[in-house]
Amino acid sequence: MKIREINLVQFRNYERLTLRPKDGINLFFGKNGSGKTNLLEAIHYCALGKSHRINNDQNAIMNGYREASCALDIQGRLSGFHIRLKLQPEEAVKKSVWIDQKKVRKFSEMMGCFQCVIFSPEDLGLIREGPAVRRRFLDMMISQVNRKYFIALQQYRAAMEQRNAILRLCRQTGRKPDPAVEDFEAIMVSSAMTVTEERNRYAGMLTEKAAETYSAISGQDREVFSMLYHSFLKDRDDPESEYQKQLRESREDDIRQGITTCGPHRDDLVFMLNRRNMKLYSSQGQIRTAALGIKLSQLNILQEISGDSPVLLLDDVMSELDKGRRMRLLEKIGNTQTFITCSDESDLDEFSESRVYDVYSEDGKGYIRETGMKQETETEQITDPDFT
Ligand SMILES: Nc1ncnc2c1ncn2[C@@H]1O[C@H](COP(=O)(O)OP(=O)(O)O)[C@@H](O)[C@H]1O
Ligand SMILES: [Mg+2]
Repeated sequence: MKIREINLVQFRNYERLTLRPKDGINLFFGKNGSGKTNLLEAIHYCALGKSHRINNDQNAIMNGYREASCALDIQGRLSGFHIRLKLQPEEAVKKSVWIDQKKVRKFSEMMGCFQCVIFSPEDLGLIREGPAVRRRFLDMMISQVNRKYFIALQQYRAAMEQRNAILRLCRQTGRKPDPAVEDFEAIMVSSAMTVTEERNRYAGMLTEKAAETYSAISGQDREVFSMLYHSFLKDRDDPESEYQKQLRESREDDIRQGITTCGPHRDDLVFMLNRRNMKLYSSQGQIRTAALGIKLSQLNILQEISGDSPVLLLDDVMSELDKGRRMRLLEKIGNTQTFITCSDESDLDEFSESRVYDVYSEDGKGYIRETGMKQETETEQITDPDFT
């Protein structure tokens, strides 16, 4: 998949922007706050209908305006198409998507049309932070290629919200739960089966790839990287009735706490190096390598499933990687269309034959100007320091 053209209107600090990126590597240089992440965020919106940052859509609209839009012309393996997303948080319909000028009825219809993988400094939190970050990663990744999963996840969340509302009411009134709680629990149980099965399956695929990408990036194979999905239903003979039972039995506790305490919304994905939990035992270097390895594995998997390469977005991560790792990353990227943002040009000496753009802002408005091609530079002999 290649982006042929990007059009933004009143999106973040871009009042209007038209950009025609090239097929291979596109390098975006600019000072902090110039609008580099905003550009990648707009691309992400066109893939998943939302930002990659924890965000509400209102923030994505340029100050002083009521709506924003981002649109991409995409060249897929077989055909081209146009995708446009419009945000109007103050209106009744807050978000709309058009594919080839035809409005989609449900968000699930846009999932998988255009795929991207983003890697940013926050992804280093994938390993060290709490399980919510890892579930979000899995959810976004699977939703991009599996509509059944996206729909099941939405159903699960909606039913859980209803269940929680009923339980909170019980807490306020002291009454017994409304019998409808059973119906919502039944929806939670059936959608949880899809969610846990798919997460398990994708975690298995990731683990297979990640061991290879980890050693490819670190340049050594002493350390074996793996990951494991920890489901609350792991190894149960009859997970469906087990979850039903857990929900029923936890009702009283859940009324006291006002939340649902058991379910896949509490699961975790554990990253391991030589079978030890990385969260507890790992250096900053290992964490960087693992986070990048996970993202490249995600790219591989999406590519295998859809038969087309997603667009790769690398936001401000080059300064986090040393020369050796950057070189190996470059090899891995192959001919994937890639957007790399950076504030220091010296971090990108290895990237020759790439198109270069200047990102700058004036009077609070962002602009991007193409400045030419980066030419081959003398590459030094790479010594291979210990990356760990
Ligand atoms: N809704 C908005 N309206 C106008 N400007 C915005 C909006 N949201 C963010 N910005 C501006 O965008 C800039 C940050 O852009 P960003 O892409 O994060 O920078 P960087 O180049 O460091 O990645 C800031 O100057 C901020 O003021
Ligand atoms: Mg940024």
